[in-house]
Amino acid sequence: MSDAMDDPLAPGNVARAGAFPAVFAEEIEKLFCRNWLCVGRETKLAKISDYFVVDVGEASVIVLRDRDGAVRAFHNLCRHRGTRLCEAREGRFAEAIRCPYHSWTYGLDGRLQGAPSTNDLAGFDRSEWPLLAVATGIWHGFVFVNLAADPAPVSKMLARLEDRVTTYDLGPLVSLRGQVYDVAANWKLIVENYSECYHCAPVHPALAKLSPPTSGENDFFEGPLLGGYMELSEGNESLTMTGRACGVPLGRVPKEEERRVYYYSLLPNLLLSLHPDYAMFHTLWPQSPGRTRITCDWLFHPDTLGRPDLNPGDGIDFWDLTNRQDWHICEQSQAGIASPFYRPGPYSHREALSMQFDREVLRQLGHPRHY
Ligand code: FES
Ligand SMILES: [Fe+2]
Repeated sequence: MSDAMDDPLAPGNVARAGAFPAVFAEEIEKLFCRNWLCVGRETKLAKISDYFVVDVGEASVIVLRDRDGAVRAFHNLCRHRGTRLCEAREGRFAEAIRCPYHSWTYGLDGRLQGAPSTNDLAGFDRSEWPLLAVATGIWHGFVFVNLAADPAPVSKMLARLEDRVTTYDLGPLVSLRGQVYDVAANWKLIVENYSECYHCAPVHPALAKLSPPTSGENDFFEGPLLGGYMELSEGNESLTMTGRACGVPLGRVPKEEERRVYYYSLLPNLLLSLHPDYAMFHTLWPQSPGRTRITCDWLFHPDTLGRPDLNPGDGIDFWDLTNRQDWHICEQSQAGIASPFYRPGPYSHREALSMQFDREVLRQLGHPRHY
């Protein structure tokens, strides 16, 4: 057994490294607590006081719509004894956010409004005890949060994708299906799998028929944002069970791009797929070194619903099937790399983005000798 292969952060060993609890904790701290995380679509917070909760490692964050209509986020903990404020994953606050322990109450802007029996407490000033704010950003209808103290805007992070997403006009799209998957695999295996189509012929026979696995080009080759496109084969209009379009065409996609499907990954938790007639995005939520909660949403132009000739379920079913094929093979991969006898093999030329993802993970973890 060579030293390099014993090293959990050796090149090619990056996914396996997640099997080590210490590395997992480091990933949560350096990747998930310092980067922008996609938490879903803004339409999830349809009304004032609507909220939902996301967990990032041991941290928990409340994302809400305040009285002014703005999206805000706060750590889901009381400033008194730290108690979790929200147990429910989503809901609507009545008037204020009330801690279930001793009833400190906070406004939707985070200000501490009430703290029973503290009036005679020397030196206690309520204004000094607001909820701990978390940075938020809205980008084309997506909500992002960032647990870092003062992050650069999310739009800067995604600047290179701006033209593409403007072309597809993602802002007004609505989610016609949201699905949650619990996958017994390290989160990095999911991203590595998404980043290559080397596996498409053996794992996804239906996908490989609609979209030749070696077609297309990459356009973002390194860094936290990676991706490119693949082409639809002759006679197919989209990635659907039938090969026919299932939604109203998105935005103003130029003729030469009508037969393309774009795939992008934004480190650490967003996978964004753009089809001519619908978009799909996954968010990844590591639960443990060997377990990842994955959300998947299918986004359509709202006019699709008024079109009896279009069947969004055709695209939803296609990707639900394809997702499950991916999760299954990732779970098998996880099981294999957990063996003490596993040694990483080389990446093929068709896995260039998976390799670049590994490099970026190592770079952000601060292991320069490895990238
Ligand atoms: S812990 Fe919240 S009021 Fe005491
Ligand atoms: Fe796949």
